[in-house]
Amino acid sequence: MQMSIAGFEIYKGFLNRKACQTVLTALRGVVRQAPLFVPVTPRGQQMSVRMTAAGDFGWITDRRGYRYSATHPEGGAWPPIPDPVLKIWNEVSGVTRQPECCLINYYGEGARMGLHQDKDEAGFDWPVVSVSLGDDGLFRMGGTERGGKTQSVWLESGDVVVMGGAARLAYHGVDRIRFGSSSLLENGGRLNLTLRVVT
Ligand code: SIN
Ligand code: MN
Repeated sequence: MQMSIAGFEIYKGFLNRKACQTVLTALRGVVRQAPLFVPVTPRGQQMSVRMTAAGDFGWITDRRGYRYSATHPEGGAWPPIPDPVLKIWNEVSGVTRQPECCLINYYGEGARMGLHQDKDEAGFDWPVVSVSLGDDGLFRMGGTERGGKTQSVWLESGDVVVMGGAARLAYHGVDRIRFGSSSLLENGGRLNLTLRVVT
């Protein structure tokens, strides 16, 4: 499967197994300080992923709406974005401005992410960088209008995606994961990191 959407760049296997493990170790520290939580949509639906964040802001959702927050839902600032994660941004984003949010989504068995746009940021001139770790995930992307034609690609552990230009506001989501396809996470599942400039 190939994706041909302007501004969508996929770096297959950007991180080798050792680099994936280095990032994972750093993320364990983040999750200890800022535990994964169950996000609830503004309409009251529990999302199937578990979520946390690092950086100046975390993206959160609850009955009050989708938004960026300087604090974890249970209180306290988010941990800083780990250096090995910032390094990925600096190698692929093509910009010198640093990300202010590293959203961390954990997909357990059966988890998915519906088609959506990333549009809670103050501006869309900065790219979004996404890092996949663990089990394979079927990533789907369309255009900037809901209901348009979409393309799909399996993202594997170590793949890094950059969404800039026209792809920055494109609808995207994850239809399903192949639970247990990777041995990176001891108990299976997929982690996705989404790095963004927020302000
Ligand atoms: C997201 O867009 O929030 C997640 C994308 C992914 O898991 O690959
Ligand atoms: Mn997204």
